[in-house]
Amino acid sequence: MRIVVAMTGASGAVYGLTLLEELRALGVETHLLVSRAARFIVAEEADLSFDDLRALASYTYDVDDLRAPVASGSFPHDGMVVAPCSMRTCAAIAHGLADNLITRAADVAIKEQRRLILLPREAPLSALHLENMLRLARLGVIIFPPVPAFYLHPRSITEMVRHTVARILDLLGLPHRIAPRWPERLNASGESLGWPD
Ligand SMILES: Cc1cc2nc3c(=O)[nH]c(=O)nc-3n(C[C@H](O)[C@H](O)[C@H](O)COP(=O)(O)O)c2cc1C
Repeated sequence: MRIVVAMTGASGAVYGLTLLEELRALGVETHLLVSRAARFIVAEEADLSFDDLRALASYTYDVDDLRAPVASGSFPHDGMVVAPCSMRTCAAIAHGLADNLITRAADVAIKEQRRLILLPREAPLSALHLENMLRLARLGVIIFPPVPAFYLHPRSITEMVRHTVARILDLLGLPHRIAPRWPERLNASGESLGWPD
């Protein structure tokens, strides 16, 4: 299996990082694209160097390299995830501005009718943000804001993030045991079974 992972300059680098780690653990081939703004956010939020980030992926491309394989519809893959997705990238994809490798790869995923999942992060959302997301949703793009599920009683930020990543793996058809499913958090007596380590 081969997945394209793009990280853009919204808060929430940990979503992209955790997704890369889980895909690696599952033996999935990953093609990583990182916007310039995302490089800054990764360093700021995750205290991770770009080389450490690259080490999590099978292949990494420069965001300006429009000759990279993922820029072409002839390069087959099983889905693309933009995690996190900035409002700038969301707007660019919604308007077909294939102006860098991330927006071009997303444009290709839409035209080839491949799975495209965006994790938009902004608050509050303006009508412009919402219109761009609606436009994409109507094209079959999955708009997946990273929203915690409190009914699973996460005990940490790590568990909240894992739940979101688990749902993305579900959407990609990949197996996982990184987060419980409702109602398996509780045993038959209603006692908590806890989260996997
Ligand atoms: C610390 C920091 C946090 C940011 N958080 C967000 C955010 O959560 N959502 C968003 O849409 N933009 C956010 N931005 C703004 C984007 O980084 C900016 O619009 C950038 O041009 C996005 O470029 P990209 O889409 O190519 O990554 C943030 C910027 C900084 C410096």
